[in-house]
Amino acid sequence: MTEIKQNSVVIGEAQTPQKAVEVSGKIQKETAWEKIKRVFGLNKKEQNSIEKEVVKAQSSKESIQAVGAPQNASQPVVGATPVSNTLSEAERKQLLEAEKIYQEGLSGVKDLISPSSMEIKTDMLKIGDIYAQSFFVYAYPRYLDTNWLAPVVNFDVTMDVSMFIYPIESEGIMKVMRNKVAQMNSAMTMEREKGNVADPALETALEDAEELRRAIQRGEEKFFHFALYFTIYSEDDKKITKISKQLESTLGGKLILVKRADLQMEHAFNSTLPIATDELTVESNMNTSPLSSTFPFTSSELTSNEGILYGLNRHNDSLIIFDRFQLENANSVIFAKSGAGKSYAVKLEVLRSLMMGTDVLIIDPENEYQNLAEEVGGTYLRVSLNSERRINPFDLPLPMKDENLKPGDLLRASVINLQSLIKIMVKGEMTAQEESLLDRGLLDTYSLKGITMQTPNPSDFVPPTMEDLVDVLSGMKGAENLAKKLEKYTTGTFSGIFNKPTNVDLKNGLVVFCIRDLEEELRPVATFVILNYIWNRVRSSLKRRILVVDEAWSMMQHEESAKFLYGLVKRARKYYLGVTTITQDVEDFIKSDYGKPIITNSSMQLLLRQSPSAVPHLQKIFNLTEGEKYLLLNSGIGQGLFFAGNKHVAIQVIASYLEDQIVTTNPEQILEQQRKVSQVV
Ligand SMILES: Nc1ncnc2c1ncn2[C@@H]1O[C@H](COP(=O)(O)OP(=O)(O)OP(=O)(O)O)[C@@H](O)[C@H]1O
Ligand SMILES: [Mg+2]
Repeated sequence: MTEIKQNSVVIGEAQTPQKAVEVSGKIQKETAWEKIKRVFGLNKKEQNSIEKEVVKAQSSKESIQAVGAPQNASQPVVGATPVSNTLSEAERKQLLEAEKIYQEGLSGVKDLISPSSMEIKTDMLKIGDIYAQSFFVYAYPRYLDTNWLAPVVNFDVTMDVSMFIYPIESEGIMKVMRNKVAQMNSAMTMEREKGNVADPALETALEDAEELRRAIQRGEEKFFHFALYFTIYSEDDKKITKISKQLESTLGGKLILVKRADLQMEHAFNSTLPIATDELTVESNMNTSPLSSTFPFTSSELTSNEGILYGLNRHNDSLIIFDRFQLENANSVIFAKSGAGKSYAVKLEVLRSLMMGTDVLIIDPENEYQNLAEEVGGTYLRVSLNSERRINPFDLPLPMKDENLKPGDLLRASVINLQSLIKIMVKGEMTAQEESLLDRGLLDTYSLKGITMQTPNPSDFVPPTMEDLVDVLSGMKGAENLAKKLEKYTTGTFSGIFNKPTNVDLKNGLVVFCIRDLEEELRPVATFVILNYIWNRVRSSLKRRILVVDEAWSMMQHEESAKFLYGLVKRARKYYLGVTTITQDVEDFIKSDYGKPIITNSSMQLLLRQSPSAVPHLQKIFNLTEGEKYLLLNSGIGQGLFFAGNKHVAIQVIASYLEDQIVTTNPEQILEQQRKVSQVV
């Protein structure tokens, strides 16, 4: 133990400043350390352990300084030599000098972490035993999708990434861009004058520049210089070449071009150290929107402890697991072009939801869900003119237990629905007079069966049928024409299906209504009747249910049925129901007055591969970025974007082998399955 060391003994935080001066005042006669030893009567062992602590404290001070912590006066004076005012200048200097020499002799954090050597080669660094290679990005594509940096960040290798963002004054940029636009305009004019066809590349560049100029002018966008560097590390020089290839190809796949910083390795390496110095200055122009997409940690996680698997998150390969009933509402919409995998995705959801005890009701216009229903022991109801299945649209719903309904409420709701249905049946051809007669006719029909606005429990009575209504209307002056039109459904070609008492029952589990075998003309009517029937049942007992309306665009073609579907979607939440609306005809769906509200009332949205004509509509409604737009245009089967509340991720819908066997609509696979079954038989 040297004298110097003793002089620099830590007085510590507990010591008041006055005391420190007092103690240090006696330094000439008795060092502080000696005094402490004396006052506390420390034995050799205790002295040693305190001295060890002192050395530790010294090196921790070193580490605080190494990370740049502020060394202000309020910090505890760890390791500082208490210098008394009573010391002469010379003594003071000597003491400080000694302290310095002492400090130099201590090994600090830097000594511990420093490599033994650093070799700078043309194309890599060798830091101790580790190889390092640095890269810079020199070109970006026209569009960047959100989270493009995530695959690199999620790379399972040791890597440092640094970004430098330099804000640029908009004024100067505006001038340059004005010149550029003028140049491009004149180039285009010259080409035109020469009689050449327009150059699409030039046109695009001009459009982009104009758009950017406008956005900067309005202050919506700002201009930046952006530099992006990577340093990868490996203990093996062969491995590092492999990693560098991976890095280049991952980014190259997104048209982000990187180069190795040959001959500038040291500068590039320094630029990726967390000391915020850019020694490379390889910058690219960037405005706010693409710059925002460089933020690497936006990969939305949609993994929760509850719910079902929807697919894989293509950003980071995590699982998309969640429960739609936890969202604001449990409704969902699915848009994609034909064959993109809409029904497949929904069938998987149905299968997995059933396992979690959710009941599912499906309206199936394509006979696609039969296999699924059979596999899970569900009910498959074929609704057609020849089938025995009947639903009476005049049925009244059972009141919900805690619903505070007044007499007449249920009947009124039913009459309003029937008016809509009859409008669909007669294809909207109804005069105002007929409409009011119909209203009266419906009430009369019900009252013939003893159900009036005063009846407290109308569902206890046997409801009338379409035939009763036609009878009533035929007897009403001015309604004969309407009665004639409706006769088609009672005694004409379409008789039997909607004019008989209901004989289907909603069982638990899965219930599928197949309407494929119905005439085209009858489908909207049937969908309406079935939905109304389902709605009545759903309302009367609270249970977690999902209702799937496949090919919903056909419902949107009729004002009345579109309105009904919207009403259902809007009110579903209160009855613990989630409505899934599937459609391939995005344009028709959105054009309808009720299409957009259905989308905004659905917290979960799945967009799979789209046709180019549908994308602009979707872009507007879903606020898609350019990158997302391209993703939708270029998605494979089962790939797309998944929105849940505010989060959205790129999804890949996946099924296990067994699930795939159940839900596929691939004719080849189905034939193969049938062949196998017949072999077994
Ligand atoms: N995620 C997926 N993985 C594997 N195969 C899939 C996936 N999604 C769909 N398929 C297959 O793609 C085909 C079309 O799928 P699907 O029937 O779901 O399309 P769709 O979008 O409902 O089409 P349509 O609008 O014509 O009903 C089927 O053969 C199905 O087996
Ligand atoms: Mg389908």
